[in-house]
Amino acid sequence: MADFDLVKEGARQMTICNACRYCEGYCAVFPAMEQRRIFTKADLTYLANLCFDCRDCYYACQYAPPHEFGVNIPKLMSELRADTYSEFTWPAMLSGLFRHNALAVGVITAASMIIILGLVLAYQGSAVLFGVHLGAGAFYRVVPFVAMTVPPSLIALYGFAVFTIGAIRFWRETQGSVVELINLAALWRATKDAFGLAYMKGGGAGCTYPDEKFSLSRMWFHHLVFFGFLLDLVATSIAAFYDHFLGWQAPYPYFSLPVVFGTVGGIMLVVGTIGLLYLKWHSDRDPAHASMFSMDVAFLVMLFLTSFTGLLLLGFRETTAMGMLLVIHLGVVAGLFITMPYGKFAHVVYRYAALVRFSIEQSRVADDAPRAP
Ligand code: HEM
Ligand code: SF4
Ligand code: SF4
Repeated sequence: MADFDLVKEGARQMTICNACRYCEGYCAVFPAMEQRRIFTKADLTYLANLCFDCRDCYYACQYAPPHEFGVNIPKLMSELRADTYSEFTWPAMLSGLFRHNALAVGVITAASMIIILGLVLAYQGSAVLFGVHLGAGAFYRVVPFVAMTVPPSLIALYGFAVFTIGAIRFWRETQGSVVELINLAALWRATKDAFGLAYMKGGGAGCTYPDEKFSLSRMWFHHLVFFGFLLDLVATSIAAFYDHFLGWQAPYPYFSLPVVFGTVGGIMLVVGTIGLLYLKWHSDRDPAHASMFSMDVAFLVMLFLTSFTGLLLLGFRETTAMGMLLVIHLGVVAGLFITMPYGKFAHVVYRYAALVRFSIEQSRVADDAPRAP
């Protein structure tokens, strides 16, 4: 739907909800909606990123299709979210990567793997690639230290810059000011809501996902993915500290901190991504938007491949398979991080920003409420 039509349609559906208000206990979207009478593009951007796609309002709605009002809030919100991601990204010419996300992720990952393999064969040779390497520095004998550290650091910095620009644009669009951010209570509440996935519980009984039965399975699988990802980041940071500051080179012993955190995080990611992919496969497509659906699947597959190839590398690091597994794992990691600013990971930034805006707004509403004499 063209941008203008989507905003018009969003305002139409929100106006119906604002008159009905049946769903006000389900999530943050409805209390935020009730603070408004008209719905501008900025309002809809904010509300869309506040919607956790629990779908409770869809199955509860007496005006959902086939009713002539055609109210379908989760679908509307996911389309608006997809628009947010491409509109606020930088540079604008890469925004098309959101629309053709699965293709872009596949091509970039395959290309990364082929380039790494080509460079290893050209500079190290096949004897090194298929040899057995043991002891400190074993991985660096296949892919040299500089190649393994400098490009990933540059890619991570680039991603951070893209997301910072996106967050600033989102904050400006939703009429936020810098002064508002000096509200530690609001930041704390938003952080708690983000880590606890507060609105993936719908009205309390859970999401109506993948179908109309209440379930907390999506929330628990997402927790596994979220905390597994964080554990893997912690593992990588400890390994970097060991390497740069203590001079201890990987591979580390099986019971060292980086390996234990990395393994637990990797297993959580494998289980969580398989669970979420299973639910997605069985999910009702009517309350979903196609571009968000394919973005979800692409990101889930990449997270699964990253953790699975990482665990394989750990299991076979003392065999002749190590060289090829390292190339494959690094290719997948490169694909994941290069495409991260232009795919589903964007939800982390905009959802957190929307939760902060909601917290600030609610504390203002509480301050303005009339007090008992
Ligand atoms: C600020 C913290 C986060 C919040 C509030 C959050 C919230 C959500 C919500 C509400 C959804 C479902 C709606 C949607 O499709 O957007 C979702 C989906 C997803 N999230 Fe997060 N998330 C957070 C962080 C993360 C992190 C760190 C990861 C992993 C790197 C992650 C991975 C995913 C994936 C793969 C999906 C798609 C899964 C599906 O559709 O079932 N999220 N997230
Ligand atoms: S989604 Fe339907 S039932 Fe819920 S508030 Fe909107 S119109 Fe009412
Ligand atoms: S889908 Fe869930 S989170 Fe989104 S507006 Fe409806 S009730 Fe709220």
